[in-house]
Amino acid sequence: MSATAPVRPVLPPDIKARKGAAPLVVLTAYTTPVARLVDPHCDIALVGDSLGMVLHGMSSTVGVTMEMMILHGRSVVRGLTKAMPVIDMPFGSYEESPQQAYRNAARLMAETGAPAVKLEGGQTMAETIAFLTSRGVPVMAHVGLTPQSVNTLGGYKVVGREGEADKVMADAKACEAAGAFSIVLEKVPMGLAGRITKALTIPTIGIGAGVDCDGQVLVVDDMLGLFTEFRPKFVKRYAELGKSADEAIAAYAAEVRGRVFPAAEHSFPDALPAKAKS
Ligand code: KIV
Repeated sequence: MSATAPVRPVLPPDIKARKGAAPLVVLTAYTTPVARLVDPHCDIALVGDSLGMVLHGMSSTVGVTMEMMILHGRSVVRGLTKAMPVIDMPFGSYEESPQQAYRNAARLMAETGAPAVKLEGGQTMAETIAFLTSRGVPVMAHVGLTPQSVNTLGGYKVVGREGEADKVMADAKACEAAGAFSIVLEKVPMGLAGRITKALTIPTIGIGAGVDCDGQVLVVDDMLGLFTEFRPKFVKRYAELGKSADEAIAAYAAEVRGRVFPAAEHSFPDALPAKAKS
């Protein structure tokens, strides 16, 4: 392959340049068919480690592995022609040292074809973000509620009220100074998210962080009504696909039991009518 081979149409510097422009539209995707649906409408398709809970029935994202992220990352990249893929670094793949983070980030990029990774953490991850970004790994940061730390945070609570606001602001600034090209603000009070968005020169992408962020992200199964185990306050359901699927499966079961399905048009005759094709 030559160094002039076509690269993806949208790369991290293009996303960074969107600061203050039209809001960035981001959804998660974990499979090729969903990536194809997301692609025409979104700027970024995030292969979030939420896939552990949404697709694999895990109780948190802590058990998600590099192999899971690579498998789903490849599947998503295959389905995208326009939107930029970003792959989450799973818990345990980057916290130990910048070198460990580099090894795993490089593997995620090389084995999936995604041009960027996302990792959770603010000031404590700044050294790692600087190490990665100075070595060719574009990083989307993630502060506020960081679900991989659910066991130390003690639940999925709002982060940044009262005494915590200064720390969240300092976390966001540290990620920007370290070279992150954008930053997710999760479950951060809307006023604080607005102040962070004003203070930073990189785009903020909110999830439960109010309307003043530079972009918004949702878990696609949440907004489509496919993931119904629980529903955070910040989720708006744009469809009820879970309900539609339940109705469709119930109708199929009733038709099979009633010998209504398969009908003649879904079956193959023993002999073909003259000139007809199978
Ligand atoms: O894992 C994920 O899907 C995420 C988004 C919710 C931001 O990190």
